[in-house]
Amino acid sequence: MKRVGLVGWRGMVGSVLMQRMREENDFADIEPVFFSTSNAGGQGPDVGKDVPPLQDANSIDALKEMEVIVTCQGGDYTKSIFPRLREAGWKGYWIDAASALRMNDDAIIVLDPVNDGVIRDGLARGANNFIGGNCTVSLMLMALGGLFQNDMVDWATSMTYQAASGGGAQHMRELLKGMGYLHSVAGEALNDPASAILEIDRNVAAALRNSDYPTEHFGVPLAGSLIPWIDTDLGNGQSREEWKGQAETNKILGREAHPIVIDGLCVRMGAMRCHSQALTIKLKKDAPLDEINDMLAKANGSVKVVPNEREASMRDLTPAAVTGTLTVPVGRLRKMGMGGEYLSAFTVGDQLLWGAAEPLRRMLRILLE
Ligand code: HSE
Repeated sequence: MKRVGLVGWRGMVGSVLMQRMREENDFADIEPVFFSTSNAGGQGPDVGKDVPPLQDANSIDALKEMEVIVTCQGGDYTKSIFPRLREAGWKGYWIDAASALRMNDDAIIVLDPVNDGVIRDGLARGANNFIGGNCTVSLMLMALGGLFQNDMVDWATSMTYQAASGGGAQHMRELLKGMGYLHSVAGEALNDPASAILEIDRNVAAALRNSDYPTEHFGVPLAGSLIPWIDTDLGNGQSREEWKGQAETNKILGREAHPIVIDGLCVRMGAMRCHSQALTIKLKKDAPLDEINDMLAKANGSVKVVPNEREASMRDLTPAAVTGTLTVPVGRLRKMGMGGEYLSAFTVGDQLLWGAAEPLRRMLRILLE
């Protein structure tokens, strides 16, 4: 059995990873060793078998004993520990949720339902750094994998509606606090259907601009508003999140040498943990919609094609329907007014599951085969 070190398992992504590993009985097939940055010597979590006391996550000597390390501890940890571990001669497999190593030449971005071949080629060549992709990119590829696999995509735009969880746990709390704050200023008038809505709106608008509105983490209000910028400013009018769309998609697909152009705007809005995206896809040919639906539906076990009808779209194609599940619905599929090669699509996915934890545990499973 492989000795697998787990770091950052208490954080948000780490907790979702632990939950999925318990559900899939992954711990039965590994020798888990839990690490901690603050509580070395403490008791490990309950995973249905004995585990040693928590090891020091900053000890290169302790980490070196692992055959595989799975970390959700974050980019600063990766940047500090990973180079020292490799310099110390460690040859094990590094599986990482953070973006720090993602674009390195020797790193493979893992999303096996989409790039199993890239992963296995990498393993055969001796690759040992496997990094989870950006959540928006992974969810887009889970939804549209069928079109990419059939080489149907000439270019695509993705306009995103990203959930608070992409910022982190504190951002989710802040979204809820903002909702509560706005609700509180609406007051009793909200319960009286005869009260003047513009009066309520005046109070809510004032609250959105009030310095009491909780904005510590997002910087500006999210509940009752939205934020049309995610991550840093690259200085060319593009955000880092937008840049990742093309860069990571092509790296995941192993086609950096002949990349597909993917661009769009990334927007934060008030969902908890599901990212949504509206896409315009320029197809390489004017394929009939039933063929397109078929390609999409067959691509992997999680994608679900939602008929482009009002009721089905409202029921199945929302964060409310998808949150906490591994299903990645894609719908609103129709040929656009620009012509038969222009396809619209809308997709939703849980940012913490397929967007973060799930590709990591599946990569671990591949190593155990
Ligand atoms: N960068 C993403 C977001 C989450 O802010 O929503 C991580 O992939």
